[in-house]
Amino acid sequence: MKKIICMALALVMLLALGCTAFAAGEKNELDAIKEAGVLTVALSPDFAPMEFVDSSKEGQDQYVGFDVTLAKYIAEYLGVELEIQAMSFDACQTAVAMDAVDMSISGYSWTETRAENFELSDYYYAGDNETEQVLLIKAEDAEKYTKPEDFAGVDVGAQNASLQQMLVEEQLPDAKLYTIGEIGVGVMELQSGNIAALAVAAGNADAIMANNEGLVKCSWEFEVDAAYEANVIMMHKGDVALCAAVNEALAEAYANGYYGPWYDEAKIAAGLETATEVSIEDEAPAEEAPAA
Ligand code: ARG
Repeated sequence: MKKIICMALALVMLLALGCTAFAAGEKNELDAIKEAGVLTVALSPDFAPMEFVDSSKEGQDQYVGFDVTLAKYIAEYLGVELEIQAMSFDACQTAVAMDAVDMSISGYSWTETRAENFELSDYYYAGDNETEQVLLIKAEDAEKYTKPEDFAGVDVGAQNASLQQMLVEEQLPDAKLYTIGEIGVGVMELQSGNIAALAVAAGNADAIMANNEGLVKCSWEFEVDAAYEANVIMMHKGDVALCAAVNEALAEAYANGYYGPWYDEAKIAAGLETATEVSIEDEAPAEEAPAA
């Protein structure tokens, strides 16, 4: 009889332990965000029209662009406040890796390495920003640089930890890669002649040219894999509950046709002409990013 009671007691204790563990395990990163009532999003506001600074505004309001609208939408979808943390592009990725922020929405292209190291959302529409990847050069150098070989031994800038850095390394192996933390600094280095070219997304190049004279796109362009054309949101590896909620929000935004108008609005804010015919058909499908 004693033995049975002991065994029953042990069973009850085991069950109780199991329940606590289950309850604790059930509280995931998504619950934590909802409980805190705040979604912290890191971004590097040097990438118009996706994220940039409107210097006529202050505080959180100064951050504008497509990704900022998207971040607000996701926070609202989750029913929490949004807190934007502006930092350099490489710091954004470190912050996510260290779990110092909930996510980073900063014009990320899907790459294999990122898919290995982070939880990446499904694709979201990035307009025509990254359908082409180009080299910004000085207008006076337009004849000098027309093919990859022309960059042999030449300083070519790219943002640190970016797709553009990867493209320079892969497609201009003879160039001297010069990494910059902020795209604005790269533009200054280009204007001062410290570097001969700056690798940037084509839409971003348009925004830079609209605000800086004497720069043109090199007639040679990088070859771009279709996998890099749309963007993804970066989350801490293993934050699958958050990623699932983000994908739901993205699917809803896509289904409601929000992306086109958001992109047009961002382009206008960046001082660019809007695409005349942005239609649902132009939008990237809200399909899953390819598996690593
Ligand atoms: N799409 C490119 C990448 O994934 C560039 C993104 C740059 N974003 C930024 N906010 N500076 O690397």
